[in-house]
Amino acid sequence: MDQPLLNKALAAIQRKHVFQPQVALILGSGLGELAEGLDHGRQIPYADIPGFHPPGVSGHAGTLALGYLSGVPVVVFSGRCHRYEGYTTAQVQFPVRVAWALGAETLLATNAAGGLNPRFLAGDLMVIDSHINLLWERGGRVARSAGDNQSEAEFNANHSVDSVPRPFQRHEPFYSPNWIARAHRCAVRCGLRLQQGTYVATLGPTYETRAEYKMFREIGGDAAGMSTAPEAIVARSLGMEVAAFSVITNVASPDTPHSTDHGEVVDWAHRAGPRLASLIKSMLNEVAGQPD
Ligand code: HPA
Repeated sequence: MDQPLLNKALAAIQRKHVFQPQVALILGSGLGELAEGLDHGRQIPYADIPGFHPPGVSGHAGTLALGYLSGVPVVVFSGRCHRYEGYTTAQVQFPVRVAWALGAETLLATNAAGGLNPRFLAGDLMVIDSHINLLWERGGRVARSAGDNQSEAEFNANHSVDSVPRPFQRHEPFYSPNWIARAHRCAVRCGLRLQQGTYVATLGPTYETRAEYKMFREIGGDAAGMSTAPEAIVARSLGMEVAAFSVITNVASPDTPHSTDHGEVVDWAHRAGPRLASLIKSMLNEVAGQPD
């Protein structure tokens, strides 16, 4: 994993389509349909892009698409790889670096998550306003030469892609308050119920025990999932604005025995996908200056 890999990925993409996206979208389990509705869209399989890994989980397509959504130039990643598949944080974060290098200024990430907040119902949408990162990687590329005063973006442009954020970097406000407000405005316009809350990022690959769900609730989590935090962290370190959304695909029931399975998660993600897609399109309409 080095800077040439980023260059190779950019070259592979630009050989197929020269395009500067403004917004990057990462679509989680079962949420991939948005990529098919792009105007002037071009799809590139991950297998054709150095540094990209075909997702090993059903419900994740494994294509990068470039095109316009609601008039906004976007790069859409249909499917992601996860730490629980054995990938490193740097590998999981790589698509965000590519999006940033293509010119994207904003990251919109989506995921499927288990609802911890007792008010949540399966199928609800949640805009993430903070996260608790239990992947235990806080960033922390510690070794830097004395007198190094490059910005993070300059550092990343000049150095290896597996570098991680500066130690003691201030993260807040982490999830963009502007995008959170926009999400609520657009949810009202679209007639959608939108929850807001804290995402607990877990390593997986198992879903949680009842005791773990209870603990996550007690430490302040509203939903739990196995992605997004590493992508959001690297995007912020590169100076991108970040917004992220969960589809609540199952509700944790710390007090009654109920086991979650992947089929249920993908099923709810598919059912809620069209609502999340209309929310995202409505937000992009606003960005394009044509609120619907
Ligand atoms: N826990 C962790 N990740 C998940 C869940 C869950 O309950 N549901 C969907 N992704």
